Amino acid sequence: MSADNLIAPHGGSLVNCFKDGISPEGCPKITLSSKQACDLEMIAIGAFSPLTGFCNKADFESICKDMRLADGTVWPIPITLAVTEEEKETLQEGGKAALYHEDGTFLATIDIEDIYPHDKALEIPNVFGTEDEAHPGVKQVIDEGEWLVGGPINVATVTPEVEPGEQFTEYRLPPAETRSLFANNGWKTVAAFQTRNPIHRAHEYLCKCAQEICDGLLIHPLVGETKEGDIPADVRMDCYNTIIEHYFVADYTALSVMPAAMRYAGPREAILHALIRKNYGCTHFIVGRDHAGVGDYYGTYDAQNIFDNFTAEEIGIVPLKFEHAAYSMKAQGMVSAKTFPKLEGDQIFLSGTKVRELLSQGERPPAEFSRPEVADVLIEWATATVTA
Ligand code: ADX
Repeated sequence: MSADNLIAPHGGSLVNCFKDGISPEGCPKITLSSKQACDLEMIAIGAFSPLTGFCNKADFESICKDMRLADGTVWPIPITLAVTEEEKETLQEGGKAALYHEDGTFLATIDIEDIYPHDKALEIPNVFGTEDEAHPGVKQVIDEGEWLVGGPINVATVTPEVEPGEQFTEYRLPPAETRSLFANNGWKTVAAFQTRNPIHRAHEYLCKCAQEICDGLLIHPLVGETKEGDIPADVRMDCYNTIIEHYFVADYTALSVMPAAMRYAGPREAILHALIRKNYGCTHFIVGRDHAGVGDYYGTYDAQNIFDNFTAEEIGIVPLKFEHAAYSMKAQGMVSAKTFPKLEGDQIFLSGTKVRELLSQGERPPAEFSRPEVADVLIEWATATVTA
């Protein structure tokens, strides 16, 4: 099977912003935050196709108000390059700037199309549905610079020198490579599973339902910036590899990482996550309960219902919507409200806090909640963290 037969990327073609001979010479310097560095990589590799750079003013406003780029293409969250007043003073519309990683590595240049005030009063309530500073995504935007710089980027590298192992090099497949992988496997339909957490039984259940429907499954954890309290990506990768080894069939399962930053924007982020996976060549996208949510800012199924605002053609990738799933003692398996009646005290629900508490005491959560092999990976990490 050829990769040309796979689902079309969002907007029609896969973007690639890498160019030879990019130099920072003579350009004013912008040091990227870790969220911005994640965004740069996502744009560069085509995961944010059709974006070729950071949002200009017309796209920013249209995205915030209508969840569309100015040309009408669906796009739910503005991908912005926020800068401070001092940085702004060094920049010029029509000029260039050199973009650097926090560690000092030169990454890219931007052709500055426009410089415009960062309208946080427009962005925050529209994107997050709340203005509460306790929301990690809201807080992040509040803390960003007061000016936005829009324009296409020319990228030299996205892999600055960091501690070996943090890069997940072997798993860091850009969209063009996941597409080749699917084509080589002969997978015409592929379900993507987005996650930012260690994999538990409900996650596994969603993945396996999807595997019954599709030719292949891509377990596609987000490994870009996450909030404090989320489990580090390298520990999660050990969990995914462990569960695949013990509980999945390798021929039907792929594992790769997505270098995006989490925004915790619930419904709007579910649309973004789906469009990204279309770019990676997936045809189906798992959306469970409170997808990309945090705290109780969003309704359990808001991230599923938001898909109803668009036509199937506009989104392109098919959302696979799952009810809240849990283990039922009576049914002796994973169930949801759609598949098994609710019986008093029958289902195993554990809060994240409770799970962390058990792990840090070296205790496995029940096997109905987490596979023991995965629990052991987490216990090793949690007890090492406590004693460190
Ligand atoms: S998320 O931020 O990436 O959404 P998480 O890694 O917990 O967080 O969830 C991954 C996917 O599994 C999401 O689509 C989420 O909605 C879904 N999910 C998590 N737990 C459950 C559950 N118990 N029942 C149904 N769906 C779930």
